[in-house]
Amino acid sequence: MLSHKRDHYCGLLNREMAGQTVHLSGWVQRTRDLGGLVFVWLRDREGLVQLVFDGNDCSPELLSLAQSLRSEYVLTVVGEVRLRDESAVNRELKTGEIEVVVREAVLLNKSETPPIYIDDKADENELVRLKYRYLDLRRPSMQEKLRVRSRVVNCIRTALDEQGFTEVETPILSKSTPEGARDFLVPSRLHPGTFYALPQSPQIYKQLLMLAGFDKYYQIARCFRDEDNRADRQPEFTQCDIEMSFIDEEDIYAVVEGVFARIFKEVKGVELQLPLPRMTWDYAMENYGSDKPDTRFEMRLKNLTDKLANSGFVVFDNAIAEGGRVEAINAKGLASMTRKEIDSLAEFVKTYRAKGLPYMIFTADGNVKSSFNKFMTPEMIEIVRTEMNAEPGDIVFFGADKKAVVWQSLGALRCEIAKRKGLIDEGKYNLFWVTEFPLFEYSEEEQRYVAAHHPFTSWYEEDNCHMDGDKEKIRSRAYDLVMNGIELASGSIRIHRADLQAQMFEMIGLSDEEAHHRFGFLLDAFKYGAPPHGGLAFGVDRLVMLLTGSDSLRDVIAFPKATSANCLMMETPADVRPDQLETLKIKVDLPAENS
Ligand code: AMO
Ligand code: AMP
Repeated sequence: MLSHKRDHYCGLLNREMAGQTVHLSGWVQRTRDLGGLVFVWLRDREGLVQLVFDGNDCSPELLSLAQSLRSEYVLTVVGEVRLRDESAVNRELKTGEIEVVVREAVLLNKSETPPIYIDDKADENELVRLKYRYLDLRRPSMQEKLRVRSRVVNCIRTALDEQGFTEVETPILSKSTPEGARDFLVPSRLHPGTFYALPQSPQIYKQLLMLAGFDKYYQIARCFRDEDNRADRQPEFTQCDIEMSFIDEEDIYAVVEGVFARIFKEVKGVELQLPLPRMTWDYAMENYGSDKPDTRFEMRLKNLTDKLANSGFVVFDNAIAEGGRVEAINAKGLASMTRKEIDSLAEFVKTYRAKGLPYMIFTADGNVKSSFNKFMTPEMIEIVRTEMNAEPGDIVFFGADKKAVVWQSLGALRCEIAKRKGLIDEGKYNLFWVTEFPLFEYSEEEQRYVAAHHPFTSWYEEDNCHMDGDKEKIRSRAYDLVMNGIELASGSIRIHRADLQAQMFEMIGLSDEEAHHRFGFLLDAFKYGAPPHGGLAFGVDRLVMLLTGSDSLRDVIAFPKATSANCLMMETPADVRPDQLETLKIKVDLPAENS
């Protein structure tokens, strides 16, 4: 009997192979039965090819086997590659110039009718796709995405190995690391009542590796964060984690730029212009209202607080009187937006805590109207016209509130307008560094300052003067790499002295006792000659998502979690046997409705 070991991939056959006998194995994509003549599309990882079973030229058994085939049956065949007639050439198929005339075939396995079409053109419900992920992954686009992912990881390894980096694996059963999310906990059987935490990142381990003298470390590291799932967040994701000793920011930028240049060249055929541009955090916030600005379109924020002081419009005046600001963006040429569209944008900014969305329309016929006509004065119009470079056909939107609300709401609004109005050039890759992040941010929730990046980040010595004053003015030596409005990487030059690390813990309100309880090992380690060091981590999933033009991280992770952190295929998380809980000395105490 015919073996299932093939000698060619379906999708790689071409016209030069006409006349050759080939052995193929794969899945039936679809069949077309014209009576004595059956056409079958056979699919493997490289693509499709048309098989021909011709009743005039083959045994009745072979013809009847062909007629019994259904989608996703597994088949192996031997046949001859033949050029198609000019009129039968299928330009949509990579192998459309040829077909394979089957001489022998064996059905290796049958399939039930699959719950989704294995076809990129089919618009399938994502929940069904996730439940039958192994079928979803048969789709060519999904195969391609995971292959891009594999090539990206390969590029990373090659580029970093060439530069003398050592890949080191760090534990998964670990201790809480402060990256700002909740930990996933794993109960210990041998030490009942105690828990490991899955690492949110290998942050502390990589710093300890610098102490250990590894000098240049990297890891393709799995990280776990129990936070709300979004399109660009997964509870389990992969970072390329990097750390170096005796370096400064420039060395990190150079290494990472080298890795990215290689990836873009290899995967996209794009030559990145190096060095990558940089902007400070202040500049990003003032111009785009975001620390990860999408710079593929303009529509920048402009601060009009000084110019519009005492404007007579209560909304502006109150915001300024309360220490806030008035800023605006000019949506050029979009004055013809309908009232409904504007109302929907006003709803949109509410999710960013804006209380309203004042706007001024410069109509095509030279008039000006606004959502606050009663308060609009000729002086105000002139200020807006000049400052916002407003011309007939433009619509200017205002934010008037506390600085943070104005930045967040207008920052998000410019992206939303650009998305809705198709202003984004999808072919662009705007990759740049954002530098000089603030060291602290004030957490309203916790009523205290928290580390904006993480508490191992060092700061500019010249900003020590703000230690006892406005802490938000202290700039950290942290940097992000941003692409098309998405944060791809984050890192910093670290604190490497025990006294400064202790000072940092104190500044974020960690008592001496708690600092020692949680990070005593690190403070101890710093006593033994810690070298100056720094590094960064970039999100591999996010990078592949951008490179493959995917909308969600789920499309570039083989077995991702759905929106509520569950896996629909394996049905995790799942309950466990009572005796397992008993061994762990764990009692589950659920509210009545869940038990
Ligand atoms: P940070 O927390 O910024 O920094 O993470 C670094 C990068 O990891 C990616 N990322 C994620 N990707 C998918 N899903 C998530 N939930 C998720 N969270 C983060 C992002 C992000 O830029 N230890 C520091 C790095 C350092 O200082 O060296 C860290 O983990 O692309
Ligand atoms: P009103 O005076 O309520 O008709 O509002 C005039 C314009 O100001 C509308 O475009 C509102 O969306 C906007 N607006 C009203 N109140 C606020 C506020 N507290 N903050 C920001 N904008 C506001």
